Amino acid sequence: MRYIEFGNTGRKVSVIGIGCMRMDDLLPAQVDSVIDSALENGINYFDHADIYGAGECESRFGLALKRRPSLRDNIFIQSKCSIRNGLYDFSKDCILSSVDGILSRLGTDHLDSLLLHRPDALMEPQEVGEAFSILHDSGKVISFGVSNFNRYQIELLQSGLSFPLCADQMQLSIAHCPMIDEGLNVNTMFDGAVMRGAGTLEYCRMKGIIVQTWSPLQKGFFEGVFLGDPSYAELNKVLGRLAASYGVSDDTVAYAWLLRYPARMQVITGTMKGQRIASAAKAADVVLTREEWYELYRAAGKELP
Ligand SMILES: NC(=O)c1ccc[n+]([C@@H]2O[C@H](COP(=O)([O-])OP(=O)(O)OC[C@H]3O[C@@H](n4cnc5c(N)ncnc54)[C@H](OP(=O)(O)O)[C@@H]3O)[C@@H](O)[C@H]2O)c1
Repeated sequence: MRYIEFGNTGRKVSVIGIGCMRMDDLLPAQVDSVIDSALENGINYFDHADIYGAGECESRFGLALKRRPSLRDNIFIQSKCSIRNGLYDFSKDCILSSVDGILSRLGTDHLDSLLLHRPDALMEPQEVGEAFSILHDSGKVISFGVSNFNRYQIELLQSGLSFPLCADQMQLSIAHCPMIDEGLNVNTMFDGAVMRGAGTLEYCRMKGIIVQTWSPLQKGFFEGVFLGDPSYAELNKVLGRLAASYGVSDDTVAYAWLLRYPARMQVITGTMKGQRIASAAKAADVVLTREEWYELYRAAGKELP
């Protein structure tokens, strides 16, 4: 496993993290098994959100911590807030009460990282800053970040904060990478040139903000995994060939493609299966060549200008 420093906390986090969004129907033994598989493979990072399973994912994880309290000091727990029914809410009250709910469900006295889940068009940076300061000063949250923000939204929010945003969690996979397309198609009339990500990958790279990739194996917006999908036949063929040459499985190569992007990358996998967690962990040791990286990009149906 490879580790990177999370913001200025001095703490090292694994470049593979476990997304707990699909934990809400797991039995206690299955939750324990996910956590154990992660730790056995050097993964110390767990991503939650208050809306996952309407709080059930955090509750089940919290019960696992209750069964084995010694786990808490060895793992890094992140959660997200601010999505409410039909709106995004960065009000101070919402942020503060959401964190109290998160901590109570997880049965812990602090979060290692809190992300604002989706940008609120009505955000007031100073108000968010007040909420973050209260959470930080009370010890309830150690560090902060965002999710699904573009660079301008990060800069706007940052203007009201007294500490740096550490991470931006965004959808990114070989089959869904408009943020990479835009960089490769600058100033052309091709569809890839559309600035859907507003230069956010490059911005995060310049600022040292960790890029956390959600849905690393999905195509579209939760349309299923591209692995084994006949509409991604060429991609699967190339993944299979590279997997064989590295002595790993296809999913490992798909994760390695994300880690090869030269920002501070952290892949958040959503698998709840031990063997697949092990495959994800192996991606930290696979460094694709430039030729392999571009071949996979093209095999996913992308054309270079
Ligand atoms: N910030 C945001 O807005 C946002 C949005 C969505 C998700 N997230 C976070 O990102 C995490 C990951 O998202 P995700 O779950 O959509 O990502 P994902 O890892 O791309 O997808 C997970 C799904 O793929 C299946 N899968 C995994 N490996 C596979 C393989 N080798 N072959 C076939 N199927 C495979 C899993 O099933 P098995 O469990 O059976 O392996 C699971 O159903 C979430 O848990 C959450 O923490 C964040």
